[in-house]
Amino acid sequence: MSSERNENIKIFDTTLREGEQTPGVSLTPEEKVEIARQLDKLGVDTIEAGFPVISLGEMEAIRFIIKERLNAEICGLARVEKADIDAALNCGVDCIHVFVATSDIHLKYKLKLDREQVLLKAIEGVEYAKKHGVLVEFSAEDATRSDIEYLKEVYIAVEKAGADRIDIPDTVGIMTPKRMYDLVSEIKQVVKIPISLHCHDDFGMAVANTIAGIEAGATRPHVTINGLGERSGNAPLEEVVMVIHSLYKRKTRVNTKLIYDTSRLVSALTGIPIHVNKAIVGENAFGHESGIHTHGILEMPLTYEPVEPETVGRKRWIQAGKHAGGHGIQSKLEELGWNPTKEQIKEILSMVKALGDKGKFVTDSDLISLSRTVMKKTSEEEKIIDLTDFAVMTGIKMLPTASVKITLNGKEYVGAETGVGPVDSAVKAIHKITSNLVNIKLKEYRLEAITGGSDALANVIIKVEDKDGNIASSRAIGEDVVRVSVEAMIDGINKILLKKKQ
Ligand code: KIV
Repeated sequence: MSSERNENIKIFDTTLREGEQTPGVSLTPEEKVEIARQLDKLGVDTIEAGFPVISLGEMEAIRFIIKERLNAEICGLARVEKADIDAALNCGVDCIHVFVATSDIHLKYKLKLDREQVLLKAIEGVEYAKKHGVLVEFSAEDATRSDIEYLKEVYIAVEKAGADRIDIPDTVGIMTPKRMYDLVSEIKQVVKIPISLHCHDDFGMAVANTIAGIEAGATRPHVTINGLGERSGNAPLEEVVMVIHSLYKRKTRVNTKLIYDTSRLVSALTGIPIHVNKAIVGENAFGHESGIHTHGILEMPLTYEPVEPETVGRKRWIQAGKHAGGHGIQSKLEELGWNPTKEQIKEILSMVKALGDKGKFVTDSDLISLSRTVMKKTSEEEKIIDLTDFAVMTGIKMLPTASVKITLNGKEYVGAETGVGPVDSAVKAIHKITSNLVNIKLKEYRLEAITGGSDALANVIIKVEDKDGNIASSRAIGEDVVRVSVEAMIDGINKILLKKKQ
């Protein structure tokens, strides 16, 4: 067992460097600063802010991040080349992450150098960076496919040259937990400085391998928000941190309550959506539908939740559908202030199941309209805001613009906005006028044509979420896509407002 067993694990976040290498992702300096601020609030120990030598914009972004005077150590990536190291030094980083490949395959086909030459370059690179008074972390790229004796020789040499930490990158994600445990244990025998791990997810093993390396004594996992990174990405921060905290009862400086907000911010700025099934931050991670599960959850959340959603800044939610049970339906309706009798719940449940059997997704508004029929309620009881009117204009030479009028407590409010299209501008206009009441984000927007032709009936399904994690889904059907989108949005906002009123 490692002597550092009880040491805090230090989180080395590389969302802004490796994460930005995700195909198709490119962040502006302002976006990088916004993410860096959030990562700092989250409590990561190191922010790898970028690869300075790649562009002037990258250097500018890193300088902006340094100006923020964040608590986290700011690191820049560099090959073991003077030009790369100088670019990082010119940005004023606290730490330079220098790397050179050590596997024969990289030496032969990429670097066209022999082992002795690479060893010398590694030593020179570390010495050069250290001469300038910065912290140095050394990575042997493709370490896990390198000859182990040569790899040890390189790590011993860079430690001697002054490196403060070494990193073991599993560059193409070929490790297994057992192999990673053994490799870290072997490297630990020959170096005294802290060991980082940089695991890729090509076989879906990045988190397991990272954790196995930590078990063997590595203390600095390289991670990215949402698992962004080259190809299948890297070990996701949210998963690694939650495993460390919840399953190992060890500590990091991460404030886990900010995990979800950070994940959403990174997804919005990078344009990379989060899969619904993704652990911790996926839409379904704290959603329950089946009757057996919702019953258990409502009695004691631990029955089907290994961590409380609030721990990572989320809320649990229950979905009505063909697998639902009476307890779930009752709790959903109670959230809205409705108190159906046992008989009414039975009737509503069988209608929900009938919809589910037809393959339909049952939104909150579907559940409410079924319940309204069964409980003989009027729709007026479910409205806080009312759509009075809206207008949209769009064309080739003008920005799509929408104005929306709503009524609240007998008073009329009007808001206008522009957007990428009429629906987007209408959604933004609604957001503008309702933002004082409730800060709503549109999480999901689905448009389906029910019939063919240009007069097809449009079925719009939306999901909205407020800043406290309350979620509501809504549906509207009609011939005019913009109108049904606006109606679904207003309906979703009403559902959230009603939940908050309870
Ligand atoms: O994937 C990799 O090997 C890297 C190194 C530079 C750490 O990104």
